[in-house]
Amino acid sequence: MEKHTEDDTVCQLGIIMSDRRTPNHLEFHFQIKDEVDLPVGSYVEVPVGTRVIIGRVYLIQASNAYYNDPNFVRDHLERSLKISARLPVRIGRWRMARVHIVGVLENDKRLPPEISPEPGDYIYSARTSLLSKFLGLTSNGLYIGKMRGPTPINIVTDIEKLVKYHLAVLGSTGSGKSYTNGVIIEELLEHDIPVIIIDPHGEYNSIRRTNQEELHRMEFFGVNPQGYPTKVYTPPRERNTKTNELSIRLKDLDVEALSEITTMSETQMDLLYLALQKLKQLEDYDIQKLVDTIKTTAEEWKFNSRTTLSVIRRIFLIEELNILGKGIDIQELVKPGVLCIIDLSEDIDERVRQILAAIVMKQIFLARKRNLVPPCFVIIEEAHRFAPQALDCYSKKMLRRLAREGRKFGLGICVTSQRLVGLDKDVLSQCGSKIVLRIDSKTDLDYVRPFLNLGSNEDIDRLPFLPQGVATISGVCVRSPIVAQIRVRKSMHGGEGTRIQI
Ligand SMILES: Nc1ncnc2c1ncn2[C@@H]1O[C@H](COP(=O)(O)OP(=O)(O)OP(=O)(O)O)[C@@H](O)[C@H]1O
Ligand SMILES: [Mg+2]
Repeated sequence: MEKHTEDDTVCQLGIIMSDRRTPNHLEFHFQIKDEVDLPVGSYVEVPVGTRVIIGRVYLIQASNAYYNDPNFVRDHLERSLKISARLPVRIGRWRMARVHIVGVLENDKRLPPEISPEPGDYIYSARTSLLSKFLGLTSNGLYIGKMRGPTPINIVTDIEKLVKYHLAVLGSTGSGKSYTNGVIIEELLEHDIPVIIIDPHGEYNSIRRTNQEELHRMEFFGVNPQGYPTKVYTPPRERNTKTNELSIRLKDLDVEALSEITTMSETQMDLLYLALQKLKQLEDYDIQKLVDTIKTTAEEWKFNSRTTLSVIRRIFLIEELNILGKGIDIQELVKPGVLCIIDLSEDIDERVRQILAAIVMKQIFLARKRNLVPPCFVIIEEAHRFAPQALDCYSKKMLRRLAREGRKFGLGICVTSQRLVGLDKDVLSQCGSKIVLRIDSKTDLDYVRPFLNLGSNEDIDRLPFLPQGVATISGVCVRSPIVAQIRVRKSMHGGEGTRIQI
């Protein structure tokens, strides 16, 4: 442990100042030592007896009394005189950091902000071990990246917290969402957790191959190239010898799903519902059986013939969609250490894509509920397409169900989106952890602002300026927000919408 004395120049950052408002138990400001390079977002510590106050810098302000008078400066500008040539301006320079207190540690116990540091107290950059403890990081978890700032700790988050409490990976196009998902997938697979990804761009199969393009960055992050086992599922029409069939049985489609793909009216749905009730006991049935049952049900309940014919016509339409088949063997789909890719990049109707994703989600959920498969993690890329804010649809209902109830059954989800205003608020609010990359649009920023567990507005204001691959991580997985460089991928990144050849 480092010494906390006046001579401890290695990590000493400055001295607490006072004004009418601070220091108090929530906030303080300190003058930064001249030679210290301290970015906003850095964690600092203030030892107070047996306790240590932990704070996070949210504002840095520079000042110099020599430059306070505009007339004086203008005079020098007009005469092209360097002020520093005449006056000792370096002496007038000072920088002040404003800090939010995020908690207190006492013998490894985490306490809320409840004591105030004092003017004149020395400030230190937070020690690695102390900060890791404070943030709830572990040594054997998911290695996501490195924290930026004076304490470049490895961000290794607790698996259970990240998986169980759900995750949202948000950011504008090209900010690094899919790359980040890739990192999380690599880590989960290494911990033998099954991962299933709903992949509307078909970009994740590249994870099979080792990353040979960024070897120089691997040393910095301390990782080695590696590929991971994958299993790809595609709708029957797209299927080739290397992929598995993503088909559904007619029985998997309940009345809501069927009526959504075929756009039925309320009365038509009523008839279909009654017919499906009759078939409930059967293991499976085909279109002809369903049509026959609709006919007998219609006679029984005296539906008019136009309704009956419309329903039958719509049911025959399902066959043309080419999604019916032997169904998915969910135990084959959820395999420890394997990434299962639900490749929905085929040019199919968006409603059909939503239904396929919804049926996969539903079956994983039911299988987890009955403990037929191990605890697993489902990533939904382009989540706004499956849980749109403005539209009620079957896939949104399923995603909401996973978000609300998944955690009870050891089923974690990660939603990824670049169209944040289009993403269902209900789903977003269920995500305990957030990895937020660059967000360009003010509309998106305003939309997600209430959901981001960020400590200060400054964090939000900086989001439009984050470089590719730099994220603000917040929520259950880190307890207090951190800005991090997401680590380099061990496997190949497929991103940028390219279709990877199998
Ligand atoms: N952590 C990172 N380290 C290094 N490079 C990165 C990182 N994150 C992203 N990149 C670079 O940025 C590019 C775009 O990233 P990515 O494909 O993940 O974007 P995206 O947010 O998923 O975009 P889209 O919304 O279009 O799918 C990658 O191809 C990669 O070159
Ligand atoms: Mg992407």
